[in-house]
Amino acid sequence: NAPALNTEASALPAGVYAETVTAVQHYTDRLFRFRMTRPADFRFRSGEFVMIGLMVDGKPLYRAYSIASPAWDEELEFFSIKVSDGPLTQHLQNLKVGDTVLMRKKSTGTLVNDALLPGKRLYMFSTGTGIAPFASLIRDPETYEKFEEVVLCHTCREVAELKYGFDLIEEIKNHEFLAEIVGDKLKHYATVTREDYPFQGRITDNIRSGKMFADLGVAPLDPAVDRGMICGSAAMLKEIKQLLLDAGLTEGANNKPAEFVIERAFVD
Ligand code: A2P
Repeated sequence: NAPALNTEASALPAGVYAETVTAVQHYTDRLFRFRMTRPADFRFRSGEFVMIGLMVDGKPLYRAYSIASPAWDEELEFFSIKVSDGPLTQHLQNLKVGDTVLMRKKSTGTLVNDALLPGKRLYMFSTGTGIAPFASLIRDPETYEKFEEVVLCHTCREVAELKYGFDLIEEIKNHEFLAEIVGDKLKHYATVTREDYPFQGRITDNIRSGKMFADLGVAPLDPAVDRGMICGSAAMLKEIKQLLLDAGLTEGANNKPAEFVIERAFVD
């Protein structure tokens, strides 16, 4: 069932890179990450997404993926769902070291530091694979230049699905230069909804009830100091957006920085 992964560089359409997989790690039967080589001339801002793809039945098939690695990293990392009948992910989940992945040359996205006004505390709200752009941003020193405190919120159904997030925190703690830059500025608020765990509940419910603020020991949302980035399912984006609007924050964009931003590339 493996697609034709070997792509002759000469047969590549214009504007497409062909990169080599360097690492693959499976977390659960639904989640995995992989790393691949990074083209020397490829530039992006931490938090952006690109179109990645594979040759399927002789044709390139692409989907939008957040780049999970930071802008300074010499490789590119992606965190993906595995869907047995997903047009791309049914093939992507079989990737092995040495395989070829296609990538369109232009990155874009709204979950970038430039789209937010300066503030004190940055909340990154994510569910499931929505943590990917934040995996990039929490490993970028620029995030800590701009914010005194960064709160990575991640909610999944099961504890095993939180592992990528916990591994990222460990990596940062042990990293040669990030450990000092990040210090104790990064808080990780991880909850599950369908298993026993010390921290439970949807992030939306935990904001509404005040549980999130109590657990973190911080004041309720305040547009003067708090900033937000949101990445998750369509329903989750909509609900968090409303909660932030209710708290007096306004939505920003690359050309109009404000108090929160949403990534809509992966929904609908
Ligand atoms: P729940 O278990 O109550 O559905 P999924 O794996 O389906 O993408 O979901 C990831 C996480 O997002 C789950 O914990 C799920 O909770 C939660 N979730 C689903 N819908 C929403 C929503 N509208 N707002 C906040 N969290 C949500």
